[in-house]
Amino acid sequence: MKRGKFIVLEGGDGAGKGTLVNYLKKVLPPGKFIYTREPGGTPVGEKIRDLLLSEEMTPATELGLHFAYRFELFEKVILPAINSGVHVIDERHVASTYAYQIGGRERRDLLPLFRSNERACAKYATPDLYVYLDLDPREGERRLKAKGFALDRFELAGLAFHQRVRKAYHQYFRKQRHVVVDAAMGVEVLCKEMERIIRAETK
Ligand code: TMP
Repeated sequence: MKRGKFIVLEGGDGAGKGTLVNYLKKVLPPGKFIYTREPGGTPVGEKIRDLLLSEEMTPATELGLHFAYRFELFEKVILPAINSGVHVIDERHVASTYAYQIGGRERRDLLPLFRSNERACAKYATPDLYVYLDLDPREGERRLKAKGFALDRFELAGLAFHQRVRKAYHQYFRKQRHVVVDAAMGVEVLCKEMERIIRAETK
């Protein structure tokens, strides 16, 4: 049996991952794809998500927690799916940790801890493709405010933080198979473009 693909959607806050995933769920064949998210994706992972989004903690603790739920997610969701030929669409993965905890938090001293955990994850699987929704953080901030939801502590971290996150994403992707999509384009065009990329990758 052909192995399923592991595809990750990445982007800064407000880039529109949620809208795209809702669209993909409608147009792609349900039996052939599953959807998950980080932080989260399993019962334990969702508890860790709540903690990560609500509590202040040191960047090293943040980094450790982001990897902790990934091991759970690999064993319970990602590997069973791809090993049975089902494609996985994951909202965020290791690139987010590089972008937010190393880049956003300005903690290059945590790189050895990041790299050792990244290697541990790679023993399970590495993404076949990262799709990065690239957006000026000022526009991301405007979109989040327009939605009117309560913002989590990452969304509230400020413009300079989100500019560092964007820069770190671009750095990280130099060594990853990825496509960059301009998230400033209209939502309908963006949805179609995303569908085209995913269909081409999984045909
Ligand atoms: P979400 O809003 O896209 O679901 O993600 C929740 C927040 O968690 C988002 O602001 C980015 C942050 N995050 C990290 O800081 N590091 C990570 O490794 C991941 C996956 C998310």
